[in-house]
Amino acid sequence: MSSEILSAAGSIPSSCLHRIFRAAETKEKESGAEVVKLHVGDPFFHPSEDVAEAFIDAVRRGETKYTGVEGLPELRAAVVEKLRSDNGVDSAVSRLLISPGSCQGLAALLQSLAEPGAEILLPELHWPVHLQQSLLAGFRPVLYPLGADLRPDPEVIAAAASPRTRVLLINSPANPTGVVLDRGELTALLELARDRGWHVISDEAYEHFLYEREHISVASLERDVPVDERIVHSVFSFSKSFAMTGYRLGYVALANDRAADVMKVAQEANIIGTSTPVQYAGIAALNSRFDASATNLKLVQRNRDVALPPLVRAGLLRELPAGGWYAMVDVTRSGLDAETFATRLLDRKGIAVVPGNGFAMRPELDDQGRVRSHDYAPWARHLVRIAFCVDPVTLETGVRGLIEFVDECEAGLASAG
Ligand SMILES: Cc1ncc(COP(=O)(O)O)c(C=O)c1O
Repeated sequence: MSSEILSAAGSIPSSCLHRIFRAAETKEKESGAEVVKLHVGDPFFHPSEDVAEAFIDAVRRGETKYTGVEGLPELRAAVVEKLRSDNGVDSAVSRLLISPGSCQGLAALLQSLAEPGAEILLPELHWPVHLQQSLLAGFRPVLYPLGADLRPDPEVIAAAASPRTRVLLINSPANPTGVVLDRGELTALLELARDRGWHVISDEAYEHFLYEREHISVASLERDVPVDERIVHSVFSFSKSFAMTGYRLGYVALANDRAADVMKVAQEANIIGTSTPVQYAGIAALNSRFDASATNLKLVQRNRDVALPPLVRAGLLRELPAGGWYAMVDVTRSGLDAETFATRLLDRKGIAVVPGNGFAMRPELDDQGRVRSHDYAPWARHLVRIAFCVDPVTLETGVRGLIEFVDECEAGLASAG
């Protein structure tokens, strides 16, 4: 039998994120010293005590059997109420599915929307999981360029689309850019999608982390449209807002009942159901959501306001990110491309960051949807991503080391020249 890998999954190159993860682990093992980890979006704060208690109580009460594939009715009802009151989204229990993390909800949603040969529009600078999931679901990703300010332009998106386009993915606040889209921008994107007959996937994992303006849920913009005609599928997470990354809990508010029925089939096949005690923890998190999300926002905002301005002053960051947990730092001044920069920064200073090309892969597909070759958007070659949700001392140490390293590289260039 041939050992050639013929599956779509086998053709997807591993992401830079995973490579840097492994490199940081190896560095720690070899040096015995802790790496300053700015590469991963795991928060330094924890879920509130009532979340842990609800989880433990559920286990002790024996609430450890399967739930229905859609999730616990009490949790779904609480989510529908939260979407109505906090997000202005008119959902319903029949259109709401709980998932083990929003990542899995996204994957199942993409599976349920994919048609043979269908294209999905993603920004050229994207969260790599969006690209990987699209490929795994059988979509042909089309990566549209962003403007110099890293914002999407509806005209550019329209030009990148084709008669095979089925889905436009929107992620605001965005990973990795920190860009937050305003009501006007979201309305323009929604109108374009409606006009062309596309679905919209709105990934709102960072809905509570906005530093300059309010969060707009895309689905709130179509709340007056009859349910059967709605096109926005919204994906939310407990991971960021409530620091529940390891619990694995998220949800998808489908645009209409037909889409929900299809996604239920995908979920039955994928997961059977979401962990039952985790769902009880989710109910507790929603009950105390205002305190928890406001406290967590303050912690990350303080990090942003205190630790990131030196990067702006050093000319490495255009402006502070308007939302999310990440900043894209421009290391052109070091004279190194982002991969070399990240490798040497880890090696010499013990600081882990992610090279920008990890977020800018452009795959070429064969007729079967397998990746035949790939390259990277050229302008990402001098960007590295840092996460600013980590503890303040780690963040400040990492930022200081990164600036020092850029200065050292620059001085080396000057003396060599
Ligand atoms: C944009 C975006 N969406 C979704 C997720 C997934 O979150 P989770 O699966 O933990 O809910 C992440 C995690 O980093 C993310 O950055």
